[in-house]
This record gives sequence, C-alpha cells and structure tokens, in this order.
Amino acid sequence: MHMRISPCEGIDAEMTVPGDKSISHRALMIGAIANGKTQIRNFLDSDDTSATMEILRAMGIEIERKENEVIVEGKGLYGLSEPEGVLDARNSGTTMRLLLGLLAAQSFYAVITGDESLRKRPMKRVIEPLSKMGSQFFGRQGGSLAPITVIGNQNLRPVTYRTPVASAQVKSAILLAGLYADGDTTVIEPTKSRDHTERMLRCFGTEVYEEGTSVTIHGIANKLEAKEIFVPGDISSAAFFIVAGLITKGSKLVIKDVGLNPTRTGILTALREMGGDISVVNERIINYEPVGDLIVRSSELKGIEIKSDTIPLLIDEIPILAIAASQASGKTSIRDAQELRYKETDRIRAIATELRRLGVEIEERQDGFDVVGRQEIKGNCTCESYKDHRIAMSLAIAGLIAQEPIEINDFECVNISFPNFAAILNSFYG
Ligand code: S3P
Repeated sequence: MHMRISPCEGIDAEMTVPGDKSISHRALMIGAIANGKTQIRNFLDSDDTSATMEILRAMGIEIERKENEVIVEGKGLYGLSEPEGVLDARNSGTTMRLLLGLLAAQSFYAVITGDESLRKRPMKRVIEPLSKMGSQFFGRQGGSLAPITVIGNQNLRPVTYRTPVASAQVKSAILLAGLYADGDTTVIEPTKSRDHTERMLRCFGTEVYEEGTSVTIHGIANKLEAKEIFVPGDISSAAFFIVAGLITKGSKLVIKDVGLNPTRTGILTALREMGGDISVVNERIINYEPVGDLIVRSSELKGIEIKSDTIPLLIDEIPILAIAASQASGKTSIRDAQELRYKETDRIRAIATELRRLGVEIEERQDGFDVVGRQEIKGNCTCESYKDHRIAMSLAIAGLIAQEPIEINDFECVNISFPNFAAILNSFYG
C-alpha cells in the first residue's frame, strides 16, 4: 500500500494510542505459563502480537479475543505442548527472542522462523546464554540465524550471564528460561534496558531482584498466578504524534493513558532537553507500570547530543528523533546507537537515505548520525519504508511539514505496531 501525506496546518487533538507492544507480548506469554485466566485489557491488536498469539495457540494455549481485550487460559509453567508445525514469528524480534527463552525450558522439539527481515536478525545473542543453561539450538550460519530448531530441556541450569549489549529481548529470554532453572539466574547488562518483563513477573507473583543493571530470578520455586492486566498506550507510538505536535506550528495535543516506564521515557527527556513543551498529568501506577497523560505544544527546538546509557531508553524512537532534529536549530548528534543497524531494517541507513531524498542533509556514522537544523523538508518525492513500521511512520510525520506532498511505499507495515496510525493522521486534516 502506498500512502500520500500532504502538509498540515496546526494540530488540535485529544487521542489515545494503541497498547504497548512490549507489554502486550509479555502479557500473552506470561499469561500462558501462569495458572488460570489472564484478562488483558487495551491489548495491542497488531501483526506482531498476532504472531505471538498464534504461536502460543500452536502450543495448546487457548486465547479468546474480543476487540482490544484478550483472555489467555494459562496452563502453568509446564502446560505448553509440542507444536506440530513450524512456528512463525513473522516480523517480530520480541516474539522470536522471548519465545526462544520459553522453548529452551520445554521437554519438546520446536522450530521457529520469521519473515525475510527477521531471518536476517542476530539470534546468537539469545542462543548463547540459553545453550549454557542446557538446551540445544540449531540454526543457519553456525546457529545464528532463523529458522532455529530448539531441543528444550526441563532441567535447566541457572546461569549468571553478562550480556555484551543492552537488550531487553535477550534479558527477558534468559529470565523466562530462568523460571525453570534449579537455582538463581542473573543477567547483568552493560546499561539498563526496558524492564517490562521484570515488572510483569512481579505482577504475576514472582520475586525479581534488581541491583544496578543486574537482575536475578529464583528458578523452580516459582508460581505465576493469572492476573488482570491493563496495557498502557505505547510511548513508542505516541512518540510520532509528540514530535508531530512539537514541529507543526500552533499545535496542542493531548495523548491519554501513555506508559511512562522510566526505561522507556528517554524520548521525553531528549525532546524536553531540545526545548519541547511536554507536560505529564494524571500520573498513576497500573500493574507496576507508570501511566499518565501527555500534553504537547508546538515548540522551537534546539539540537542536542544523545549517546551512551541514554540510547537504550529511546532506541526505537531514534528515527522520529531524526525528524525532530531536522527542525531543531543547531546540531543534533546520535552516538553509540549501532544496535539500530540490527532492527527490522538498518535504521541508520534507512533514515539517512530517506531524509536526503526529502531534501535534508544528514551525516551518517557507524553508530548514529549528525543533523544540523533547521532544514526545509522539500517533499514531492516517493520514499521507501523498507517495510519497517517505525521508518514508515517517521516519514509520514516529516510529510506533515513538507513543502509538497510525499508518498511512502509499503505503508501497510505500520500494522506491525500501530494499525490505526493513518486514521489518526487523517483526522488532523479536519
Ligand atoms: C523490545 C526490546 C528492544 C526494542 C524492541 C522491543 C522488547 O529490542 O528495540 O522494539 O519488547 O523487549 P532489543 O532487545 O533488541 O534492544
């Protein structure tokens, strides 16, 4: 599908964004291995979460779906059954990596694959620690690429593992496997990644111990009890409209019920440091996750430097930050973000190529980029999304302030995380 975006005057809107993708995946998976019925409200109904749902069903879990509400019939830690066919994680890295952790601890054989993009993404980072725990993995290219065969082991050994990169997917895979190990499993990260798994495990009744960037879980003794979960709005989805509100003149936007977990709010910190007028009201905690409403007003932005420990706190928001940076006075530099090259597409290359196509100068670095604002977005061109949802949506927001309309190819990829993105965008034109 092709999307055409025309320049837009000021935005005056009150909205919600769909449920958080990371939390929706975790609610399904942890709900499946908990005892009893887990009800998930404001579940993100999208391509990525459907992949997780279908895989769990293929392992014998009943999941009922009513619009944005889902009921998972948890069967307990040892309730999954051997899937008959190949499991398909489609485009979803979270599905594949977290499930590898669960599959590692089952007494059966399973094969998991994904789409063209996911089959290129590094899996050794999860397979290595999980192998140390005692299960076996086979994959392409020396075991690092999907399709991956897993021969699980219900008698896993606990590990203490230092991850070379801060990755919530790797950490979560080890912690989920750690639930089944005979002893304490500890993950130590170079810098802290998002901690939704830790919070949700606590919510289901399991103790998780944290110290600095180290997380420990006790194995075997654990029992997970079904819960009612409310999934807050995804701050990564809200980020597109936060930037839209900041860079379009005369705008005011209210975005309600957004997840404000401090391991995810790096985008708010960065945009405020750039001069963005963003306030948070109605803050509360639901299922151990902070939630609040955001009020965003048009702002004059200035460039900043973003690097090191801050990067994992806003890793998925760097493409949309590049659009904000193009409208900020002075230079914005992103460093230490080489992980972006291993996402759904190489996001550093994609954003640099497409911004140039839109008439914006940007200097690509191995681990980030430099953009000097304020530059005019010319438009009158057709951009590539690389079938990457976050690239597609970032370009669409650039289109709101372009001099002339832009077109974006393969726009249906937004269904991976934000199926009603185009509907919200279209509502801005009054
Ligand atoms: C996610 C973790 C991050 C993030 C991804 C979702 C998760 O990936 O980029 O969109 O749900 O755990 P990494 O673990 O590769 O950093």
